[in-house]
Amino acid sequence: MQPINVLKEASKLVYENVKGLAGTKAAAKDHGVGAGGDISRKIDVVAEKTVLDYLKKIKFECIVLGEECGRVELSKNPKGFVIMDAIDGSANAVRGIPFFCCSLAFATEDKLSSVTAGVVTDLSTGDMYWAARGRGAYCNSKRIHVHKEKPVYKIVGINVSGAKPSLIKRIQPLFENSNHARHLGANALELALFSRGLIDIYIDLREKIRVTDMAAGYLIAREAGGKILDKNLENLDSDLSYDTRLSFIAAANDELLKEILQQI
Ligand code: IPD
Ligand code: CA
Ligand code: CA
Repeated sequence: MQPINVLKEASKLVYENVKGLAGTKAAAKDHGVGAGGDISRKIDVVAEKTVLDYLKKIKFECIVLGEECGRVELSKNPKGFVIMDAIDGSANAVRGIPFFCCSLAFATEDKLSSVTAGVVTDLSTGDMYWAARGRGAYCNSKRIHVHKEKPVYKIVGINVSGAKPSLIKRIQPLFENSNHARHLGANALELALFSRGLIDIYIDLREKIRVTDMAAGYLIAREAGGKILDKNLENLDSDLSYDTRLSFIAAANDELLKEILQQI
């Protein structure tokens, strides 16, 4: 089975299994601190178990890097890594805000740039964003692209949760110059909306994003024609380590990128 089909199948199962749980008291139950450093909630654990059980059932030979469960070696002869954020946007999922997703990626080596398949499933609607390297990006069966024309309303995605005062000061012009700044609370799904052309620029310079938050969205955004740069304005890349924290600027085109860079 192709990795992309494995990821699609696993995320469909997550969608089915967490449907009734989001926004309930049970979803919030504390399961201790996960590998990514945050508290794992019941909804996170149910979703991760769904993926792990499926991968075991089909004997998919891989090493899983999960936001809650950490590194799980499912084979002595792994073909690559499954990078799993079974619930991205946990706070939204627990509170019942309908913006959270399942983010799964497959990488052949210990590098973000070696991700060859990515699936982000919107767990409120079931919409599946996916990409296989070199084959383009899709929402369900429809090909998607970042927004290349001049937008009617320019939507600027900026993540500032927990940002240091110095960063807030640096990016203040972005807020001043935008009537449509957004932060929706699930990094992978925000990258999917960017890939679909609904957000024009998406910026997170907090040095907080983990590889698990990024891996699937990174491939989908690139396959949709987006640029994703690091804080030094190089093409974003990193290892797949748990300690790695990322900053990035995703832009739909060069003109928008230039405009943003003049402000920060
Ligand atoms: C979080 C979300 C959020 C981002 C945080 C992430 P989680 O992931 O992607 O949008 O601001 O930095 O940790 O904890 O909901 O999987
Ligand atoms: Ca996450
Ligand atoms: Ca998560």
